[in-house]
Amino acid sequence: MSKIVILTGAGISAESGIETFRAEDGLWAQHRVEDVATPEGFMRNPELVVDFYNARRAQAAEVEPNAAHRALARLEAEHEGEVIVITQNVDDLHERGGTQKLYHMHGHLKGALCATCDHRWPAPMVMAPGDACPACAAPAARPDIVWFGEMPYDMETLFEHLSGADIFAAIGTSGNVYPAAGFVAEARGAGAHTIEFNLERSAVGSQFAEHRTGPASQTVTQWVSELLGK
Ligand code: APR
Repeated sequence: MSKIVILTGAGISAESGIETFRAEDGLWAQHRVEDVATPEGFMRNPELVVDFYNARRAQAAEVEPNAAHRALARLEAEHEGEVIVITQNVDDLHERGGTQKLYHMHGHLKGALCATCDHRWPAPMVMAPGDACPACAAPAARPDIVWFGEMPYDMETLFEHLSGADIFAAIGTSGNVYPAAGFVAEARGAGAHTIEFNLERSAVGSQFAEHRTGPASQTVTQWVSELLGK
Protein backbone atom coordinates (compact mmCIF):
# COMPACT_ATOMS: atom_id res chain seq x y z
CA MET A 1 0.00 0.00 0.00
CA SER A 2 1.77 3.14 -1.20
CA LYS A 3 2.19 6.19 1.03
CA ILE A 4 1.46 9.39 -0.90
CA VAL A 5 2.79 12.74 0.31
CA ILE A 6 1.48 15.85 -1.44
CA LEU A 7 2.78 19.42 -1.24
CA THR A 8 0.46 22.16 -2.46
CA GLY A 9 1.04 25.83 -3.20
CA ALA A 10 -1.00 28.83 -4.32
CA GLY A 11 -1.60 27.29 -7.74
CA ILE A 12 -4.08 24.76 -6.35
CA SER A 13 -6.27 27.62 -5.10
CA ALA A 14 -5.89 29.75 -8.26
CA GLU A 15 -8.93 28.23 -9.99
CA SER A 16 -10.99 28.98 -6.89
CA GLY A 17 -10.23 32.65 -7.50
CA ILE A 18 -7.38 33.30 -5.06
CA GLU A 19 -4.44 35.01 -6.73
CA THR A 20 -1.03 33.40 -6.49
CA PHE A 21 2.08 35.19 -5.26
CA ARG A 22 4.48 35.35 -8.18
CA ALA A 23 2.21 35.73 -11.19
CA GLU A 24 2.50 39.13 -12.94
CA ASP A 25 -0.63 40.37 -11.17
CA GLY A 26 0.06 38.29 -8.07
CA LEU A 27 0.15 39.28 -4.42
CA TRP A 28 3.84 40.16 -4.51
CA ALA A 29 3.21 42.49 -7.42
CA GLN A 30 0.66 44.38 -5.28
CA HIS A 31 2.49 44.38 -1.94
CA ARG A 32 6.12 44.38 -0.83
CA VAL A 33 6.88 41.09 0.90
CA GLU A 34 9.07 42.86 3.43
CA ASP A 35 6.14 45.10 4.39
CA VAL A 36 3.42 42.48 4.85
CA ALA A 37 5.08 39.08 5.33
CA THR A 38 7.98 39.62 7.73
CA PRO A 39 8.19 40.11 11.52
CA GLU A 40 10.02 43.39 10.86
CA GLY A 41 7.16 44.60 8.67
CA PHE A 42 4.72 43.74 11.46
CA MET A 43 6.79 45.68 14.02
CA ARG A 44 7.08 48.65 11.64
CA ASN A 45 3.42 48.86 10.65
CA PRO A 46 1.11 46.34 12.35
CA GLU A 47 -1.96 48.03 10.82
CA LEU A 48 -0.76 47.38 7.25
CA VAL A 49 0.02 43.75 8.02
CA VAL A 50 -3.20 43.02 9.91
CA ASP A 51 -5.24 44.66 7.15
CA PHE A 52 -3.40 42.60 4.49
CA TYR A 53 -4.42 39.37 6.23
CA ASN A 54 -7.94 40.66 6.98
CA ALA A 55 -8.39 41.13 3.22
CA ARG A 56 -7.06 37.64 2.45
CA ARG A 57 -9.22 36.10 5.19
CA ALA A 58 -12.30 37.82 3.74
CA GLN A 59 -11.44 36.66 0.22
CA ALA A 60 -10.84 33.06 1.33
CA ALA A 61 -14.29 33.04 2.94
CA GLU A 62 -15.87 34.11 -0.38
CA VAL A 63 -14.42 31.35 -2.58
CA GLU A 64 -14.99 27.61 -2.82
CA PRO A 65 -12.69 24.58 -3.03
CA ASN A 66 -12.19 23.46 -6.62
CA ALA A 67 -12.04 20.02 -8.24
CA ALA A 68 -8.36 19.63 -7.33
CA HIS A 69 -9.04 20.09 -3.60
CA ARG A 70 -11.93 17.64 -3.84
CA ALA A 71 -9.86 15.10 -5.77
CA LEU A 72 -7.22 15.06 -3.01
CA ALA A 73 -9.93 14.49 -0.40
CA ARG A 74 -11.28 11.59 -2.49
CA LEU A 75 -7.76 10.14 -2.75
CA GLU A 76 -7.37 10.28 1.04
CA ALA A 77 -10.77 8.66 1.58
CA GLU A 78 -10.39 5.86 -0.98
CA HIS A 79 -6.65 5.09 -1.29
CA GLU A 80 -5.61 2.07 0.83
CA GLY A 81 -2.28 3.60 1.84
CA GLU A 82 -1.66 6.81 3.84
CA VAL A 83 -2.24 10.14 2.11
CA ILE A 84 -0.67 13.25 3.66
CA VAL A 85 -1.27 16.79 2.38
CA ILE A 86 1.25 19.50 3.27
CA THR A 87 0.12 22.92 2.17
CA GLN A 88 2.00 26.21 1.95
CA ASN A 89 -1.39 27.88 1.55
CA VAL A 90 -3.06 29.70 4.40
CA ASP A 91 -6.61 29.44 3.03
CA ASP A 92 -8.92 26.69 4.32
CA LEU A 93 -9.89 25.24 0.95
CA HIS A 94 -8.29 21.83 1.61
CA GLU A 95 -10.31 21.47 4.83
CA ARG A 96 -13.50 22.60 3.13
CA GLY A 97 -12.72 20.26 0.23
CA GLY A 98 -12.66 17.35 2.71
CA THR A 99 -8.97 16.68 3.39
CA GLN A 100 -8.38 15.49 6.97
CA LYS A 101 -4.66 14.77 7.32
CA LEU A 102 -3.37 18.25 6.54
CA TYR A 103 -0.39 20.32 7.64
CA HIS A 104 -0.43 24.11 7.23
CA MET A 105 3.35 24.56 7.25
CA HIS A 106 3.00 28.35 6.72
CA GLY A 107 0.16 28.79 9.21
CA HIS A 108 -3.45 29.65 8.37
CA LEU A 109 -5.72 32.69 8.08
CA LYS A 110 -8.23 31.20 10.53
CA GLY A 111 -5.65 31.24 13.32
CA ALA A 112 -4.50 33.99 15.67
CA LEU A 113 -1.26 33.81 17.67
CA CYS A 114 -0.05 35.72 20.72
CA ALA A 115 3.38 37.23 20.05
CA THR A 116 3.94 37.29 23.82
CA CYS A 117 2.84 33.90 25.15
CA ASP A 118 2.46 31.81 21.96
CA HIS A 119 -1.21 31.05 22.73
CA ARG A 120 -3.29 30.21 19.61
CA TRP A 121 -7.00 30.74 19.10
CA PRO A 122 -9.48 31.03 16.22
CA ALA A 123 -8.92 34.38 14.50
CA PRO A 124 -11.87 36.78 14.21
CA MET A 125 -12.73 37.70 10.62
CA VAL A 126 -11.26 41.14 11.27
CA MET A 127 -8.18 41.49 13.48
CA ALA A 128 -6.88 44.83 14.75
CA PRO A 129 -3.36 45.70 15.92
CA GLY A 130 -3.10 45.43 19.68
CA ASP A 131 -5.96 42.95 20.04
CA ALA A 132 -5.61 41.33 23.45
CA CYS A 133 -4.54 37.73 23.82
CA PRO A 134 -7.39 35.78 25.48
CA ALA A 135 -4.82 33.86 27.56
CA CYS A 136 -2.33 36.45 28.82
CA ALA A 137 -4.24 39.66 27.96
CA ALA A 138 -1.14 41.18 26.32
CA PRO A 139 -2.06 43.45 23.36
CA ALA A 140 0.03 41.11 21.17
CA ALA A 141 -2.35 39.27 18.82
CA ARG A 142 -1.00 38.59 15.31
CA PRO A 143 -2.14 36.44 12.40
CA ASP A 144 -0.95 32.82 12.87
CA ILE A 145 1.04 33.01 9.63
CA VAL A 146 4.67 31.94 9.24
CA TRP A 147 6.47 34.99 7.85
CA PHE A 148 9.75 35.06 5.95
CA GLY A 149 12.57 34.45 8.38
CA GLU A 150 10.37 32.37 10.69
CA MET A 151 10.44 28.58 11.01
CA PRO A 152 7.62 26.73 9.20
CA TYR A 153 5.48 24.48 11.42
CA ASP A 154 5.84 20.72 11.99
CA MET A 155 9.11 20.42 10.06
CA GLU A 156 10.34 17.31 11.93
CA THR A 157 7.05 15.51 11.29
CA LEU A 158 7.03 16.62 7.66
CA PHE A 159 10.50 15.22 7.03
CA GLU A 160 9.44 11.94 8.65
CA HIS A 161 6.51 11.74 6.21
CA LEU A 162 8.79 12.55 3.27
CA SER A 163 11.27 9.83 4.26
CA GLY A 164 8.46 7.27 4.10
CA ALA A 165 6.82 8.45 0.88
CA ASP A 166 6.38 6.08 -2.07
CA ILE A 167 4.94 8.90 -4.18
CA PHE A 168 5.63 12.63 -3.72
CA ALA A 169 3.52 15.13 -5.65
CA ALA A 170 3.95 18.91 -5.75
CA ILE A 171 0.88 20.79 -6.97
CA GLY A 172 0.81 24.48 -7.94
CA THR A 173 4.02 25.66 -6.32
CA SER A 174 6.80 27.62 -8.03
CA GLY A 175 9.59 26.01 -6.02
CA ASN A 176 10.99 29.39 -4.99
CA VAL A 177 10.64 29.13 -1.23
CA TYR A 178 12.55 26.77 1.06
CA PRO A 179 12.23 24.49 2.96
CA ALA A 180 9.17 23.44 0.89
CA ALA A 181 11.14 23.65 -2.38
CA GLY A 182 13.60 21.11 -0.96
CA PHE A 183 10.93 18.46 -0.28
CA VAL A 184 11.31 16.86 -3.72
CA ALA A 185 15.01 16.19 -3.05
CA GLU A 186 14.12 14.63 0.30
CA ALA A 187 11.47 12.41 -1.27
CA ARG A 188 13.73 11.34 -4.16
CA GLY A 189 16.44 10.53 -1.66
CA ALA A 190 13.95 8.24 0.06
CA GLY A 191 13.21 6.49 -3.23
CA ALA A 192 9.82 8.07 -3.92
CA HIS A 193 8.38 8.55 -7.39
CA THR A 194 8.12 12.34 -7.81
CA ILE A 195 5.51 14.15 -9.91
CA GLU A 196 4.96 17.87 -10.47
CA PHE A 197 1.59 19.42 -11.37
CA ASN A 198 1.94 22.94 -12.72
CA LEU A 199 1.18 25.19 -15.68
CA GLU A 200 4.93 25.30 -16.38
CA ARG A 201 8.18 23.87 -15.01
CA SER A 202 8.84 25.17 -11.49
CA ALA A 203 12.24 26.35 -10.26
CA VAL A 204 12.87 22.77 -9.08
CA GLY A 205 11.02 21.12 -11.98
CA SER A 206 14.13 19.31 -13.21
CA GLN A 207 14.19 17.29 -9.97
CA PHE A 208 10.84 15.63 -10.66
CA ALA A 209 10.62 12.30 -12.48
CA GLU A 210 7.20 13.12 -13.96
CA HIS A 211 5.35 16.31 -14.93
CA ARG A 212 1.68 16.88 -15.61
CA THR A 213 1.18 20.25 -17.22
CA GLY A 214 -2.15 22.05 -17.10
CA PRO A 215 -4.70 23.41 -14.63
CA ALA A 216 -4.68 21.41 -11.38
CA SER A 217 -8.46 21.01 -11.46
CA GLN A 218 -7.95 18.81 -14.55
CA THR A 219 -4.53 17.22 -14.04
CA VAL A 220 -5.01 16.30 -10.37
CA THR A 221 -8.50 14.95 -10.94
CA GLN A 222 -7.18 12.76 -13.78
CA TRP A 223 -4.24 11.55 -11.65
CA VAL A 224 -6.50 10.58 -8.72
CA SER A 225 -8.81 8.65 -11.03
CA GLU A 226 -5.81 6.74 -12.37
CA LEU A 227 -4.50 5.99 -8.87
CA LEU A 228 -7.90 4.77 -7.69
CA GLY A 229 -8.38 2.77 -10.87
CA LYS A 230 -11.65 4.47 -11.75
N1 APR B 1 -2.87 24.78 -11.81
C1 APR B 1 -1.60 24.39 -11.49
N2 APR B 1 -0.60 25.25 -11.19
C2 APR B 1 -0.90 26.56 -11.21
C3 APR B 1 -2.19 27.06 -11.53
C4 APR B 1 -3.19 26.09 -11.84
N3 APR B 1 -4.44 26.46 -12.15
N4 APR B 1 -2.15 28.41 -11.47
C5 APR B 1 -0.89 28.75 -11.12
N5 APR B 1 -0.14 27.65 -10.98
C6 APR B 1 1.28 27.57 -10.57
C7 APR B 1 2.17 28.66 -11.13
O1 APR B 1 2.70 28.26 -12.38
C8 APR B 1 3.27 28.73 -10.06
O2 APR B 1 4.32 27.82 -10.33
O3 APR B 1 1.30 27.75 -9.17
C9 APR B 1 2.56 28.29 -8.77
C10 APR B 1 2.32 29.43 -7.80
O4 APR B 1 3.59 29.88 -7.38
P1 APR B 1 3.68 31.03 -6.28
O5 APR B 1 2.78 32.16 -6.64
O6 APR B 1 5.16 31.30 -6.06
O7 APR B 1 3.07 30.37 -4.95
P2 APR B 1 3.76 29.32 -3.99
O8 APR B 1 4.72 28.44 -4.72
O9 APR B 1 2.68 28.66 -3.22
O10 APR B 1 4.58 30.28 -2.97
C11 APR B 1 5.22 29.62 -1.89
O11 APR B 1 5.90 31.76 -1.02
O12 APR B 1 5.28 33.92 -0.67
C12 APR B 1 5.48 32.72 -0.05
O13 APR B 1 4.49 31.95 1.91
C13 APR B 1 4.21 32.23 0.57
O14 APR B 1 3.36 29.98 0.70
C14 APR B 1 3.89 30.96 -0.19
C15 APR B 1 5.26 30.54 -0.70
